Amino acid sequence: MASPKRYLITSALPYANGALHLGHLAGAYLPADIYVRYLRLLGRDVVWVCGSDEHGAAITIQAKKEGTTPREIIDKYHVLNKDTFERLGISFDLYHRTSEPLHYQTAQDFFTKLYEKGGEFEERFSEQYYDEAYNQFLADRYIIGTCPNCGHTEAFGDQCEKCGTALSPTELINPRSTLSGESPVLKPTKHWYFKLNKHADWLREWIDKGTLDGQQHHDANTWKKHVTGQCLSWLNDGDGLQPRSITRDLDWGIPVPLEDAKGKVLYVWFDAPIGYISATKQWALDHGKDWKDYWYGNDVELIHFIGKDNIVFHCIVFPAMLHAHGDFALPRNVPANQFLNFEGQKFSKSRGWGIEQHVYLEEFKDFPNKEDALRWALLRNMPENKDSDFKWDEFVDFHDKELADNFGNFVNRVIVLTQKYFDGLVPEVDFDWMDALSDAHRLALGVHDDLKAFNFKQAAQTLMELSSWGNTHLQDVSPWNIAKTDPDSPLIRECLFTCLQVVGLLSVLSEPFIPFTAPRVRALLGLPDLQRGDLERVLDQLQNSQPVIASGHRVGQPEVLFPKIADRRDPARMEIVERQKAKLAAILQAEAERQKALAVVEANAPTAIAKEPVAVKDEIQYDDFAKLDIRVATILEAERVPKADKLLQLRVDLGFEQRTIVSGIAEHFEPQHLVGKQVLVVANLAPRKLRGIESQGMILTAENSEGKLGLVSPPEGWENGSGVK
Ligand code: MF3
Ligand code: ZN
Repeated sequence: MASPKRYLITSALPYANGALHLGHLAGAYLPADIYVRYLRLLGRDVVWVCGSDEHGAAITIQAKKEGTTPREIIDKYHVLNKDTFERLGISFDLYHRTSEPLHYQTAQDFFTKLYEKGGEFEERFSEQYYDEAYNQFLADRYIIGTCPNCGHTEAFGDQCEKCGTALSPTELINPRSTLSGESPVLKPTKHWYFKLNKHADWLREWIDKGTLDGQQHHDANTWKKHVTGQCLSWLNDGDGLQPRSITRDLDWGIPVPLEDAKGKVLYVWFDAPIGYISATKQWALDHGKDWKDYWYGNDVELIHFIGKDNIVFHCIVFPAMLHAHGDFALPRNVPANQFLNFEGQKFSKSRGWGIEQHVYLEEFKDFPNKEDALRWALLRNMPENKDSDFKWDEFVDFHDKELADNFGNFVNRVIVLTQKYFDGLVPEVDFDWMDALSDAHRLALGVHDDLKAFNFKQAAQTLMELSSWGNTHLQDVSPWNIAKTDPDSPLIRECLFTCLQVVGLLSVLSEPFIPFTAPRVRALLGLPDLQRGDLERVLDQLQNSQPVIASGHRVGQPEVLFPKIADRRDPARMEIVERQKAKLAAILQAEAERQKALAVVEANAPTAIAKEPVAVKDEIQYDDFAKLDIRVATILEAERVPKADKLLQLRVDLGFEQRTIVSGIAEHFEPQHLVGKQVLVVANLAPRKLRGIESQGMILTAENSEGKLGLVSPPEGWENGSGVK
């Protein structure tokens, strides 16, 4: 007999250096919560772990900013984040911490195992930036400078937050230390590198085809396109995978368990994912289980929920670590989400743009169903396959039109009518109710299938269709009209029996999405609280043509589940929303005024910035300009032209056709960063051959005073082929 599957679900361990905002929630926690609640309802053996990521420069920098110690920072934010998740119904089985001794032990053992195995690590001496005033090596995040890709002057040594490019500190132009503000010097230091390159071949097979050691490991078609795409472009880019340094010169972290590594710690991205293992160990200890059951063997379904910035670590680096170690199962899927924006812009702590989870709970504290209202709005706009946008107006609409008008109203009407016509008892019927409910049952199974496939947004939509189906049925029959002339008509009994079955289905199927409301629906129906396995029981009932609520069962008293937000007679709820919108308007207003003030200062101080005279090219006539046919296009593919340092070969989509363009920008852009970018293309430039490749157009770039090139992008959302004039 095949042993039953065991599910191990993980969500990215958030850094314990700050509060989490709605974008985090929508990215890696809400979808996982929905999925895990669904598995529990199916009676599956599932464990969901998460916890605080408490090492790395993110923490030490925050401590410095707040004038305190890393320990105080992690203690403060671990508690805040853990509590806030709980209050939003995010139902981890364990929210662990990477500062726990069990984790130190686990991470060090993992390192030692790979070290002793031989062949997985190499030692390298390299030159790294050192702050002479502070006598310490600088972590990547401690170095800022100008981004070689976009010219942003505050880029970090590991990443430019403006353009998203991954960087190494030596790529920064004019680097400076955030400790002393001085420019750092390069000094040799020894580090241990994980030979990721060794693993490239099997990783490519595994990601592209889903095969592992010649066997089918998972169905590659079930992985999201953007996840597979990002991994393959990483695997195939340039020289492919490189050894990665897994140790750091830092005084905060897990000591490298080697004699000759005094003062060095494990790189945070080496220890953090091992946190999934140590959390599982702790959970198993707490529950008298064996953690290995959830990490070893073929029956383990390991699923990582993350945001897109963590894809490479979870699909390439960590699987390679697990595989190198041996024993461990690899993830069957990594349904990463893209990013959520907030009212059209990126979340930004420094600008105050966006809202943190705990602030939301505080602001909306007098708001009934604040948790489910938020969960629902985030779910309906979840960035599953592309970036999406949270808007307060939509928050109101999703709540009022879907939860209140559709779901809540249906449930309420059915209970009211059952009380009115049948004294609260599910009526006796004698008709083919399975046939009457066949469309409703199809929708119920649809929710189940959508959830299984990680299509959470679609699942929510299908749930609403089920509730709409019920509403429509009730309206079509209108038992209140029949009751006027023929109060004993079987049509009334049949209609309410049918609708009660739908409410019964909703009381189970809605739980993963709106877990605060589902128990109230159960109470309205007079049914016991939901338990593990209830969905499986319901599916069996459908299979065996048994009603989910039997005739003669007594339902409870009606109650309004979702008082509308936009309600003129009771403006209190809308006022809370309006207050949020007003805050954003005030931020924009203040920023606009600062800009204006700045412009005035510049205009009044013509000597302040002595600009060099700029030589403009010879004058042309309008007709000359009008000859240019410039179009919006998307870069589909980008690769270096062999043996040509400056040239990239691009494939671009102009909307009406695709073209090959050879462009002399290779020194300024990494090819993988160009893929997916929208650009402007001169579409009527005569074709010419470069290195034997015909180039059919030209990409527009802007050059800054340092000779750096940046892409000229069209407005966001403009379709390919749009003309520029
Ligand atoms: N702390 C990291 C971040 O916020 C995520 C770590 S995920 C884990 O980006 F795999 F390392 F745990
Ligand atoms: Zn940049």
